[in-house]
Amino acid sequence: MKYQQTNPVPVPASGPYGEVEATMHSVFDWEYALRRQNLLTLYEKGKANNWNATDLDWSTEVNIAKMMTDRASAGGADVFNQVLAPPKELELSESIELQLNMNAFMLSQFLHGEQGALLATSKIVQTVPWEEAKFYAASQVMDEARHVEAYHRYLTEKLGISYEVHPSLQVLLDDILKDSRWDVTFLGMQIMVEGLALAAFGLLRMMMPDEPLIQDITTRIMADESRHVAFGVMALENLYTKEMSERELREREDFVIEATHLLRERLLMHQIFERLGWDEKLWVPWATNTPFMKGFRQMTFSKVVPNLKRLGLLTPRVRAAFEQLDLLRFEHMKDSVEEPEAAPPEELVQLLMQFLAQGQEAEAQALHA
Ligand SMILES: [Fe+2]
Ligand SMILES: [Fe+2]
Repeated sequence: MKYQQTNPVPVPASGPYGEVEATMHSVFDWEYALRRQNLLTLYEKGKANNWNATDLDWSTEVNIAKMMTDRASAGGADVFNQVLAPPKELELSESIELQLNMNAFMLSQFLHGEQGALLATSKIVQTVPWEEAKFYAASQVMDEARHVEAYHRYLTEKLGISYEVHPSLQVLLDDILKDSRWDVTFLGMQIMVEGLALAAFGLLRMMMPDEPLIQDITTRIMADESRHVAFGVMALENLYTKEMSERELREREDFVIEATHLLRERLLMHQIFERLGWDEKLWVPWATNTPFMKGFRQMTFSKVVPNLKRLGLLTPRVRAAFEQLDLLRFEHMKDSVEEPEAAPPEELVQLLMQFLAQGQEAEAQALHA
């Protein structure tokens, strides 16, 4: 593995290394009973489906600005202005700059989330009591190293724009790593962060149909992530419904509600407007409230909500919090055991199709003019 970090990822003001103090119990399983057949099957799948990031076609030319310009060769800025209704009419160059940065911002948060998954899952190897879960977690650790590698190479060698970790994502990753309870690591990482990422990757793939390298990276990573989320669901099955006291369950409810708020905030992109030097007072509320971005943020919970329901965590308190965020609409969707992949919800597909179709319409009109 060798690549050019033409544009390195910016280092946070706090410095190049971030330390989180964690207290945890490293557990040996001397029984080696290997009772959980579903985890052993998943472990076999994990080993069989390993891939190498160096197999991707890194010679692919990635020029997102050109891609956006081609897409918008006629009236592209208008499409952006019409569908996304920004607070100020954008010139084509401005709309391209914004989209470039939004794409880089999203991918950068994926990268940092992947590093969080690498650390959290290595912690699971230590803390989870059953040997078969340690086996699978070890195979996931390898997956996560590869995901960090692939996104990092893509950002630094191909895209050339990247962002540091969003403060809300950082807080959540720190919380997950600090917590000594092994089930909370699963709940935070496999159920919340990876459940959300799985849905977000699906959306990225839809938004970039004309960029083959990111399509390939995302498709491979999504296949791994769907196993990781299934791992969390399998490991926590029955724990919250049968084995926990009311007080313990209440702590998990608090964790889920807090994590949901942090994960939503991580998609509020004030860092972009700060970097572009655009008026944050004008742009942050837009990024928060425009129907497309709202739809995007909600859609990323389309796998998290049914998985929480399966685990018995869609309790009255969690429901009340989700009701306010309009997230209960996903409760009847399929969970990760019923359907491991995450299909984007229909309404968001419609919204996106509208966006792409208007671009084509504008192009057709320009051709006939
Ligand atoms: Fe990953
Ligand atoms: Fe993962």
